[in-house]
Amino acid sequence: MNPLGKAILQFCRSTIGRKLIVALTGVLLVLFLLGHVAGNLLVFQGREAMNDYAQFLHTMLHGQGVWIARIGLLIAVGLHIWATVSLVKDNRAARTERYALPATVQASKSSRIMIWSGLTILAFVVFHILHFTVRIDPALANLPDAAYAAAHPGESRHDVYAMVIKGFQNPLVSLFYIVAITLLCSHLSHGIASLFQTLGWRSRKSAALEKQLGWAIAIALWIGFLSIPAAVLTGALKDKPSVSGQKAAIPSDPAAPAPRQG
Ligand code: HEM
Repeated sequence: MNPLGKAILQFCRSTIGRKLIVALTGVLLVLFLLGHVAGNLLVFQGREAMNDYAQFLHTMLHGQGVWIARIGLLIAVGLHIWATVSLVKDNRAARTERYALPATVQASKSSRIMIWSGLTILAFVVFHILHFTVRIDPALANLPDAAYAAAHPGESRHDVYAMVIKGFQNPLVSLFYIVAITLLCSHLSHGIASLFQTLGWRSRKSAALEKQLGWAIAIALWIGFLSIPAAVLTGALKDKPSVSGQKAAIPSDPAAPAPRQG
């Protein structure tokens, strides 16, 4: 390996290098979540808005965009976990060697909670990908967007809008999302505030503000993500047939009721 590569690798293995990796990958993952929640909220605008958005994600950069994002996310998650786990290990080793004060017990408790919430988030992401991306549940896998097919003869696309609503109609699935996303937001509220410290941006004056920002982002994400299963479970969000879907049904189904005017 050339000297520059060696120096970079050495920096990445150092304590400050690993802390920087946790912070930078954390920022990237929070930006992903903010983008993801904004996209998901299109479900409240209706089938067309949600499915257009999902189609855009799958077709951008000739279909390669989604793969670039997936590989980038995978690398970010992998580095985030590796750097965090190795820092926690180092911390524990240093603590047991040097002191056993109550304050350190408190500190290691919060990092232990971070590890457990982190592992639950990981399990959730695996479930979530099987649920909505791989679609292992046949009831969610075969949902063609009828309105789109009628408007674009010869083309088809998955009805992501119907899939999300059907998915959350299962109360156990919704409950799992609620628990996992609550843990995710608790993880973020702590993580975002620590990030400023890692990047050396914490002063006595800014500490309270940074803590509040951590909470504000975590709460905004919590409300944004959980508004969807909450709306489905309460019946506020239903998989209604789209107006264009009804219109499209007329030529092939003479018995179908004519769409209401106005
Ligand atoms: C109510 C909450 C959520 C909803 C409704 C939702 C919805 C979706 C949908 C519909 C997809 C698939 C898009 C498609 O392939 O067409 C997706 C993908 C994804 N979601 Fe979520 N999501 C939610 C929460 C989350 C959370 C909290 C995380 C992360 C912790 C997350 C991470 C991902 C990832 C990584 C993918 C990409 C999988 C891939 O295509 O490789 N989602 N989500």
